[in-house]
Formats: sequence, structure tokens, C-alpha cells
Amino acid sequence: LARHRAPGILTGVRVLVSAGPTFEDIDPVRFLGNRSSGRMGFAVAEAAARQGAQVTLVAGPVHLPTPAGVRRINVRSACEMHREVMAAAASADIFVAAAAVGDYRPVAVAEHKIKKQGDGGMTLCLTQNPDILAEVAALPRRPFLVGFAAETQDVEAHARLKLEKKRLDMIAANRVGGGLGFEADDNALTLIAADGAEHLPTASKRELARSLIERITARFNASRR
Ligand code: CTP
Ligand code: CA
Repeated sequence: LARHRAPGILTGVRVLVSAGPTFEDIDPVRFLGNRSSGRMGFAVAEAAARQGAQVTLVAGPVHLPTPAGVRRINVRSACEMHREVMAAAASADIFVAAAAVGDYRPVAVAEHKIKKQGDGGMTLCLTQNPDILAEVAALPRRPFLVGFAAETQDVEAHARLKLEKKRLDMIAANRVGGGLGFEADDNALTLIAADGAEHLPTASKRELARSLIERITARFNASRR
């Protein structure tokens, strides 16, 4: 029997999601990474697809199954994520930037495994990665923009600054550490927009993603009126 799904609140809307960490290679066996599991972003992609959206998920290096009905593009480094997100952003209605993008990468990737030298320390030279979300915000026809801010202190204040600096429509702020956020099953978010904040209490990332998609949709629809 064919299953007919009721039309969702995002039917016909194109949603782009970035998720997971990025890995910045140092040499053929080493890299700089971070503790992002990708689960929040994958849950957002799944929740959007269940609401009828056409979802593109640009995923950093994580071993998570692709949510049903989602077009997935795998990347490794911030530069690769930048390229794929920019290619998809112009035709997206909503961009949810859930990826934990590495801020820096090694200036050069060594062709061969770096050998230990002498008894002293070593210095790694880093250069800054492109700010993907800020570049999407600067597009002439930009999508509705939702950022994430994972912070260990002054969560709301830091998130508000990012909302303004990157000219976002909404930002989802979360405290990381203490069993929440990175690597955890559960999360809690504070959704911040220019006109106020709403706290979404601790829940599974899938439940939170469903609530987040409802809030995003309401504001996205209001912004189009
Ligand atoms: N982001 C991005 N590209 C980057 C860095 C961040 O798209 N190179 C996005 C993240 O996906 C997130 C938001 O910007 O949605 C905020 O990321 P965060 O790391 O908290 O902010 P930064 O601007 O990098 O500031 P800092 O790390 O110094 O707190
Ligand atoms: Ca950062």
C-alpha cells in the first residue's frame, strides 16, 4: 500500500542544513577536529523533511544514517563545507547552520607524516576559515537564516551578539558541557530573535528539532508576508 503523507507545514520549502564537525588535515594521519556529533543538525534535517521540505544536508565527517527523503552531501573540511553550502544557498529558502565549523586550519597540509624533531615542542601555523554563515548572510537574495551558538559561559549574551553581528533571523543558543550539547543525546536551547527569546527545555535532540522547525516555520512565514 502506498503511504500518503499529509502535507506538512514546510511543503515546497527548500531547506539547507549544515551539520557535524569539520576536520582540518595537518598531514596524512592527523587532523584538527571538534566534539560535534552532528545529531542536532541531522535531527533538524529529519524534522524539516517530515514537514514536507526539500532538504539538502551538508554533513561533516560523522557516521550517522541519512534521514529519509534528505539529499546529503558529505564534506570533511570547512573549505569543502563552504563550497557546498555556497553552491546550494542561492536556491534555499531557509538555511539552518548547525555545523561546528572549525575556525582555523593549518596553513599547509604536509604531504608526508610529520616526524618528531628533537626534544622540544612544535608550533602549528593556522589560518582562519571562511565564515560560511556570514557569507550566506551577505548574499543578495539570502535565505531565512538560523544560526547555532554553542557556548560554555554567558550563553545568551554571546548568542545575541552573534545574531546581530551575522545579521541572522534567529539563533539557537545552547550551553555545552555537563551532559548537554556536544556528544550528548539531550540538549536544551534558547531561541533568540531580535524581538525576544524562548527557552526550549531539555529534551531529546529529535524532540527539540521538531519544536525548532515549528518556530522557524512560523517566523519564516511571517517574514514572507
Ligand atoms: N559558522 C559558520 N562558519 C564558520 C564559523 C561558524 O557557518 N566558519 C556558523 C556556525 O554553523 C553557527 C554560527 O556560525 O551557526 C556560530 O558559530 P560559532 O562558532 O558559535 O561562532 P563564531 O562566529 O565562529 O565565533 P566564536 O567561535 O569565536 O565564538
Ligand atoms: Ca567558531
